[in-house]
Amino acid sequence: MCGIIGIVGHSNENIQQKLLNGLERLEYRGYDSSGIALLQNNSIVRFRAVGKLSNLKKLLDTAIIDGHVGIGHTRWATHGKPTENNAHPMMSKDVAVVHNGIIENHKELRFSLENDGYVFTSETDTEVIAHFLQRELVNGFSPLESMRNCMNAMDGAFAIAAIFVPLGNKIIAARRKSSLAVGFAEKNCTARIEKAAGDASICGNMCVGSDAGTLSGMCHEVAYMEDDDIVEISEDSVVFFDKNLHPVTRKKYKVHQDSDSAKKGEYSHFMLKEIMDQPTAIRKTLLHNKIDASLFTDIERISIVACGTSYYAGMVSKYWFERFLKIPTSVEIASEFRYRDPILEDNTLFISISQSGETLDTLAALEYVRSNSNCKTVGIVNVKNSATDRASDVVFYSEAGIEMGVASTKTYTAQLTLLASLALCKKEFLLQQLQNVPTFCESVLTLSAQIKQLAELISRSSSAIYLGRGTMFPIALEGALKLKEISYIHAEGFAAGEMKHGPIALIDEHVPIVLLCPNNELFEKTASNLQEALARGKNIIVITDVDGEKKMPNEVHKLVLPNVHSAIAPIVYAIPLQLLAYHTATIIGTDVDRPRNLAKSVTVE
Ligand code: G6P
Repeated sequence: MCGIIGIVGHSNENIQQKLLNGLERLEYRGYDSSGIALLQNNSIVRFRAVGKLSNLKKLLDTAIIDGHVGIGHTRWATHGKPTENNAHPMMSKDVAVVHNGIIENHKELRFSLENDGYVFTSETDTEVIAHFLQRELVNGFSPLESMRNCMNAMDGAFAIAAIFVPLGNKIIAARRKSSLAVGFAEKNCTARIEKAAGDASICGNMCVGSDAGTLSGMCHEVAYMEDDDIVEISEDSVVFFDKNLHPVTRKKYKVHQDSDSAKKGEYSHFMLKEIMDQPTAIRKTLLHNKIDASLFTDIERISIVACGTSYYAGMVSKYWFERFLKIPTSVEIASEFRYRDPILEDNTLFISISQSGETLDTLAALEYVRSNSNCKTVGIVNVKNSATDRASDVVFYSEAGIEMGVASTKTYTAQLTLLASLALCKKEFLLQQLQNVPTFCESVLTLSAQIKQLAELISRSSSAIYLGRGTMFPIALEGALKLKEISYIHAEGFAAGEMKHGPIALIDEHVPIVLLCPNNELFEKTASNLQEALARGKNIIVITDVDGEKKMPNEVHKLVLPNVHSAIAPIVYAIPLQLLAYHTATIIGTDVDRPRNLAKSVTVE
């Protein structure tokens, strides 16, 4: 889940700043360290810094670099702590490499390279690639052949970009199971630049990167590399090869620009902006997704697989699919699904939910289903042309735009909206209710100041409990996840009815409890659970609606939402929990948009 980038600039163009711009856009994939390497005067110069990209930028402030071919990396540590030695690019004598993924057989490769006299300076798996490529060069192979030999020797999932002194102004990149996009400058660029009096910015660059979004600002078209592809990129040409080094062609796509989403505007954090964007994201998602109920013809089961917040969206939808479509539905964490030999009957609709469309476990589960069954596969993604998009039979897009904050907010409610549109596709009345969700969300967002006061209460505690029943149970789980992700306060979500079977032992007069209690068919049951909590605890925040409030005891803190139909309530109730987590984190002073240890897109197992 590191981010990698490589850019081949035009003659006399210094690409240092472009590399940094690219890394800035890739920082969502990890920010334990970052680094760049450039070809300069027939040698490689490298700069690395621990921590966020700003540290690398500071380092480069005083460096004089003049290179027009280079690679860059932002790291989410897997093998080895986040130290400078473990930061990419990794180097051998004439080679520098950036890598995303895991080389599973790195120990044996390292052993063989050490035996041949190669000295390792890091604990990373990546360093074996640099030395392996170097050894192949020494053995007389060309850079391209060296990369092919290296690919043949490696097990695991990886995306690699490398520069070689003997290759000159080119980049060689390769991938297996981890995504890699190649960006194309405008055609006949050199002539255009000459006409524009040397202005190299007009045509974009040939480039390569972990995702197309990152490249969008610097190229005109992108192509996605396939498994075991190798690509050679130079100033004005890109050549793709298969694993036997036979040239192959890859389809090009126009790049999508979404510059509004990439700016914070008036907000102090992307997360707050994205929370506030939700009515718009939901409106767009509704507008662009008209569901044809024939998707469910002959479907006897639905199997949903996802990770993280997307998994919780899947959990909510299980209630919807079973209640409104009467189709038995299972929801599973992708990393569990793929290793347990799941039974896949033909009439199962397999739905994978992934904001990024690149989460390795979710993708691997989809791949497993495609290889082992005849199930129809549906992807719910936010990023168009992502790996899940390309691998699914049918795709629905949440229209949330780019989400910059690491903690998912607008993409979650957009996913929920999309899943509700699917589940309610035969229920005209409820589909009408769904159209009202953006307005309800707008009204919930006006409660932000009140939620901030409640956040004071949570910010003073080292743990918190979230409770809900029915669809409010997964909403509680997601609320707890949001809190721990960005405030580092330990939080757990429980089914309110399950509390008495263990979690109740956690309740004392200090621990805050957040109870989701809309006035729905489960209101009385949840209210009983509230009484059980009240008998033992004190700091209880109840999120309810106008009708529910009337029946609430005085001793609790109340946050009152509008009355909404229970079918659509989960989408609306997700929002105050996001704001609660956000305000708690800002009171504590954590890095809300880049919380420690996390990455937005997880491309390792
Ligand atoms: C990471 C992110 C989460 C996200 C999860 C799944 O853990 O930090 O916010 O929910 O990955 O990502 P996906 O892109 O597959 O929805």
